[in-house]
Amino acid sequence: MKQICVIGVGYVGLVTAACFSDLGNRVIALDISEERINGLKRGEMPIYEPGLEELVERNVSAGRLSFTTSYPEALDGTEFAFIAVGTPSGVDGEADLRHVAAVARSVAKQMQNPLIIINKSTVPVGTGDWVAEIVSSHQPRPVPFSVVSCPEFLREGSAISDFMNPHRTILGSLDPEAAEKVAQLHLPLRAPIMLTDLRTAEMIKYASNAFLATKISFINEIANICEELGADIKEVAVGMGYDKRIGPFFLDAGLGYGGSCFPKDVKALAYMAADKGRHPQLLNAVMEINDDRRPMVIQRLQEMLGDLNGYTVGLLGLSFKPNTDDMRDAPAIDIAEALQAYGVKVRAFDPVAMSAAEPLMPEVEMSSNPYSMAEGCDALVVVTEWNEFKHLDLKRIRDSMKQPALFDGRNIYEPEKMRGLGFNYRGFGRGYNGHTLNNKVEEDVIFTPT
Ligand code: UDX
Repeated sequence: MKQICVIGVGYVGLVTAACFSDLGNRVIALDISEERINGLKRGEMPIYEPGLEELVERNVSAGRLSFTTSYPEALDGTEFAFIAVGTPSGVDGEADLRHVAAVARSVAKQMQNPLIIINKSTVPVGTGDWVAEIVSSHQPRPVPFSVVSCPEFLREGSAISDFMNPHRTILGSLDPEAAEKVAQLHLPLRAPIMLTDLRTAEMIKYASNAFLATKISFINEIANICEELGADIKEVAVGMGYDKRIGPFFLDAGLGYGGSCFPKDVKALAYMAADKGRHPQLLNAVMEINDDRRPMVIQRLQEMLGDLNGYTVGLLGLSFKPNTDDMRDAPAIDIAEALQAYGVKVRAFDPVAMSAAEPLMPEVEMSSNPYSMAEGCDALVVVTEWNEFKHLDLKRIRDSMKQPALFDGRNIYEPEKMRGLGFNYRGFGRGYNGHTLNNKVEEDVIFTPT
């Protein structure tokens, strides 16, 4: 049993703490927010993540997981300290490292025994070296320590399963012995472990997220072209995905990427390039394409309905993606604001994100279910592809609307079916401009040789 301290109880920190304790380690999770720590001590999760509450409860009861606001308590006898605090976007997209620096100073002042400091937060290349300098210069007396970079690749909504079944673990350090010890901690996860230097590990995280964001902007650009030429982006993506070099993942066209990672990380990588005099052409295009997605909803609704002033529009979904209540950089916020600026009354329903969304969109009327939200609406917009929206009683919805217009920002419905039900329906990249699709992905027959 190893003793671990995890600093920061946000998405990454709390999942890391809960999962390492579930693997049999003794974990103390620390946060400077008394409110969060007291809540956790009462069993209240500061975030919504499927399975997290049960996992925390189980490991607290087993005595493997505890919470504190005290650095001396968290560091006492601890061999590993994970940093998992936020690195928001600062001015120009540069990552704001205030929280990381504060943690490094506190650890330096309070550590009493040799420590391996492992950074999980997404930080600019070179931050590991900088953390080491801060720790050395703030220690009241020299206590040996090493810095290891171990970037996280967790997706919100499936963070626990992603932690327990990683595709790989990346460990960067200039101290092979420390990297080896951190590798041992990750062995039970049975995934390839790559040992590299600090800066390369930090870069792998940015390059991975930027590549995934590029895939999304690429498919969105193709969707725009499909729309003009009468092709169906969903089928195009399926057809492309059979090529193993391309793969079927991250090819869903729609409202583009949001959340706490992709927008911030692509911006930060572009900033790092520009700061060194490089012109990050591709990254700039990725961001530009993504920025266009949200205003396109308003344009489409205007094409479908004309002047929107005085209309009521209902948003199906608010969180930036399904299975989370996270509203960070969620398209719903921009879409609601833009609609309101056009004199539209906006309503919304989301299975879990309404209380997180309410303070961010005070003018939006939250509904208790999708059916009451749709009643009397002039249009609906699918903003988040929650599974339950795929199984709605669409006839009931259509009958209760003032005008049955639906813009499908995540392409969850089939155009022909929706038109058959009497909806004035549009999605992203689904063969408009006078062309009618005569095919449906689900009904495609793929012939395989016997
Ligand atoms: C992402 C990375 O996947 C994860 O490895 C990293 O550690 C943190 O950032 P997350 O932000 O939780 O995780 O969500 P993800 O499921 O990757 O989706 C990101 C965004 O891209 C969402 O807004 C989603 O709606 C959008 N997306 C994703 C698309 O628009 N199309 C796709 O095909 C896939």
